[in-house]
Amino acid sequence: MSITNIMIPDISKIRKDFPILGQKVNGKPLIYFDNAATSQRPIQVIDRVNEFSLRINGNIHRATHFFANKTTEAYENARETLRSYLNAEETAEIIFTHGTTESINLVAHSFGDAFVTVGDEVIVTAMEHHANIVPWQMMCQRRGATLKVLPFGDDGLLQHELLDQLITEKTRLIAVTQVSNVLGTVNPIAEIITKAHSKNIPVLIDGAQGAPHFKIDVQALDCDFYAFSGHKMYGPTGIGVLYGKRKWLDRIPPFFGGGEMIDKVTFTQTTYNEIPYKFEAGTPHYVGAIGLATAIDYLNNLDNILISRYEHDLLMEATTRLKQIEGLRIYGEAPEKVGVISFNIKGIHPFDLGTLLDQMGIAVRSGRLCADPVMDHYGVENMVRASFAFYNTVEEIDAFYRALIRLKAMF
Ligand code: ALA
Repeated sequence: MSITNIMIPDISKIRKDFPILGQKVNGKPLIYFDNAATSQRPIQVIDRVNEFSLRINGNIHRATHFFANKTTEAYENARETLRSYLNAEETAEIIFTHGTTESINLVAHSFGDAFVTVGDEVIVTAMEHHANIVPWQMMCQRRGATLKVLPFGDDGLLQHELLDQLITEKTRLIAVTQVSNVLGTVNPIAEIITKAHSKNIPVLIDGAQGAPHFKIDVQALDCDFYAFSGHKMYGPTGIGVLYGKRKWLDRIPPFFGGGEMIDKVTFTQTTYNEIPYKFEAGTPHYVGAIGLATAIDYLNNLDNILISRYEHDLLMEATTRLKQIEGLRIYGEAPEKVGVISFNIKGIHPFDLGTLLDQMGIAVRSGRLCADPVMDHYGVENMVRASFAFYNTVEEIDAFYRALIRLKAMF
């Protein structure tokens, strides 16, 4: 892919919506390539969140005054925005959480209590983020169940043909990431769901890295649970979503106890609220939910097809350039990938690389990337990861490439 062939949406106009991108870091124009960790927020989201701190603030569902009514209305409208965006059947299936991690913990805990018992099995993949491993491990330990792992190959592709061998009559749930946060691989989740459902096994999709890149239709996909975070898709931190099919949410117990999730409390017996409130104990992050809905409105106003082609072209451009660097190894080269490139350069410690790039104004992530099993697969301690969003540019990729060449010459 040559630079001239890249289809370009009006990126300079889009970048104006993200004031943070105009800053200098260490005296250099910021190049923000850590979008898989957290994306930046458009001014529309920032303004909306500020509005609910500056002018309107009242706790939701708890009072009849003006502020309480305004925030309650905005919060429930946000739920409808999310329902519509995901094409869920009803708003009751949209639970606001603090993020993907809480969403997965909720299912692991509540589904585990309801449906997993001694000798049962849960399947995850070897490319999961820790947030889609540890909650299942904890649940399996609690319930006396076994966690089984679907492997992936050096190319970053899941060996999903092995799933048949892993599934038994004891399999109670399969949890799989839509997109690997390290390898960028887009997994064949539709196929996995079809296979699982043919054996009556529900599937949870970790959409933390998928939702920022793909518009999801949960009914078409037919997933049982879908979890994602607001801050990776241009929304605020501390807010996330768990989509769950009513047939499961009605049948699993609450996760947290407290206000709002109850119907009636007595010391002899407490009954619970209907869904989604059964799973929203305490004061929710309503300002976050309202901000997330604004981020969704922002995404809805972009040309999805053009943006995803552009993101793909950025990935291709970056991959081609990085491959020209001698001693650089890219981890994960699946044909279907999002804009995530994890790599190492022979002879340079990933943390040194991250620090030196930062001095050049380039933000990447270095470390174990919350995915120890992926590091173990490749036999490395750490990686460097560059991850792109639609506001990144070919010029930034070129500057990144030149920075890496300079650093390589230094070592
Ligand atoms: N899960 C985030 C990442 O992959 C933090 O960087």
